[in-house]
Amino acid sequence: MPKTTYLTTPLYYVNAAPHIGHSYTTIAADALARYHRLRGEPVFLLTGTDEHGQKIAQAAAKAGKEPQAFTDEVSERFRSLWGRLSIRFDDYIRTTQPRHVQAVQQIVQRLKDTNQLTHSAYEGWYCTPDETFWTEAEAKKAGARPGNSEGRAGGDPVCPTCQRPVEFVREEGWHLPLEPHRAWLRGYVAAHPDWIQPAARYNELKSLLEQPLPESLSITRPKSRISWGIPVPFAPDQVVYVWIDALLNYITVAGYPGDPKRFAGLWPADIHFIGKDILRHHALYWPIMLHALGLPDDQMPRRIIAHGHWKVGEQKMSKSLGNIIDPHVVMDQLLKGQPNGADIYRYFLLREIPFGQDGSFSEDALMKRFAADLANDLGNLVNRTCSMIDRYRGGKIPAPAASDPLNAAAVHREVEAAMAGAEFSAALGAIMGLVTKANQFVETAAPWKLDKQPEAAAQLDQVLAALADALRIAAILLAPFLPSVAGEIWRQLGCTGEMRFADAARWGLLPAWQALGPHPILFPRAEAKG
Ligand code: MSP
Repeated sequence: MPKTTYLTTPLYYVNAAPHIGHSYTTIAADALARYHRLRGEPVFLLTGTDEHGQKIAQAAAKAGKEPQAFTDEVSERFRSLWGRLSIRFDDYIRTTQPRHVQAVQQIVQRLKDTNQLTHSAYEGWYCTPDETFWTEAEAKKAGARPGNSEGRAGGDPVCPTCQRPVEFVREEGWHLPLEPHRAWLRGYVAAHPDWIQPAARYNELKSLLEQPLPESLSITRPKSRISWGIPVPFAPDQVVYVWIDALLNYITVAGYPGDPKRFAGLWPADIHFIGKDILRHHALYWPIMLHALGLPDDQMPRRIIAHGHWKVGEQKMSKSLGNIIDPHVVMDQLLKGQPNGADIYRYFLLREIPFGQDGSFSEDALMKRFAADLANDLGNLVNRTCSMIDRYRGGKIPAPAASDPLNAAAVHREVEAAMAGAEFSAALGAIMGLVTKANQFVETAAPWKLDKQPEAAAQLDQVLAALADALRIAAILLAPFLPSVAGEIWRQLGCTGEMRFADAARWGLLPAWQALGPHPILFPRAEAKG
């Protein structure tokens, strides 16, 4: 039995509602999970919410709510957005759930019992929005960058990731010294050049490892500073530092430490999907934590894929700029009246930019992509194919064409190659290439002319059957990305069975004279916005 492919998203902070950036990682992970299911391979997709820490306690206080009630509400908003976006996860972990809390307590106890932790005072600079400690050198260097001293006393330290001011902290707690693990991690990284993707992020990690590491990683933080966290069993005055708590979800859900059998079937994770801003936590701190727990090299996560960030126009998305893109607003307003709005949204995010690069969201870009690729190309092909089969053959698809004039049964190979590297845009590009080619084939074959020539009846059969079969293949290949649209094309072709990836590699599978199903327009013309 093959190992279950274990895919994870980051756990999202519940200080505010989900936005386009959160949906991006989740949609990408979902598309890959669906791709594996389509291939009949066991897969487990984990997502959830990160609910402890200072920033969430502050957000709850600001909302006038108890932290638990507040996190219940916001976590539900993430979960319901995932429902609307057709995210099919296998588990949804909330870090406040007892199953996670108990496992985290056992794990930190284990680190203490195996003498991995030291008790000491820690000095550093803390970024609350990112819940991250920085060394003085890092925060000062970031503060000295041009453009960062604006409005602040010249060169004040800032968070190297989000550029917001950091706060100096000096606190006592339990720490994991990093130095003892550095040589090991360096060796591991050097031996696994594909461990982090894309290559630019791998190089970033390598150069991070060449600089002096912070002395240690905080494992606990004093309750006097922050009480909203998991209590540390051996230190009643401490809670587990939120990043430690959160990262551990990847193994607690997999059954660590209580269920070794489950753990053996799921772990290691095959891909941790993350945004580039949390590379250090996942590629530096996380493997060191696993190493400190005694996990061997073959138990490290197999791949970490870090995607780029969405900007709005040229601006960074931020609360203070008031330009946060809410996926519900995109679907309710920009894509109003579209029965497949969630699919259009998924398509835009995955097609618009190569995974790994930054992207720019704008209404214009979304509507252009939608019109050109989906409405005019895919929607048009489905619509005209069904209409011609109705008109010329009474709604029945003629017997399969002997040859594959569009070379449609070869496209799955390009999709396979792209998906192996999580290159979603390339996979979609290959499938849409087939759609474009099929539309061109309609023009050159001109079925309306063939229909007028009785001696061309067999040729017309072949053209219509070829178009229908190309659509069958396109539907299968599109299913991981556009689950509703693909299902709809499938039903319009009169298919009822389950889609299987292997069938996209075979030509002529539609039964002769299969009757089309009902075929409403997939992408109705967008209503003029008033
Ligand atoms: N809670 C931590 C992750 C813990 S994982 C054990 C966290 N949460 S987050 O909600 O702030 O961010 C979650 C993910 O959303 C990150 O991968 C981040 O890169 C992604 N995005 C946040 N803003 C984004 C954009 N503007 N664009 C794309 N993704 C972005 O970090």
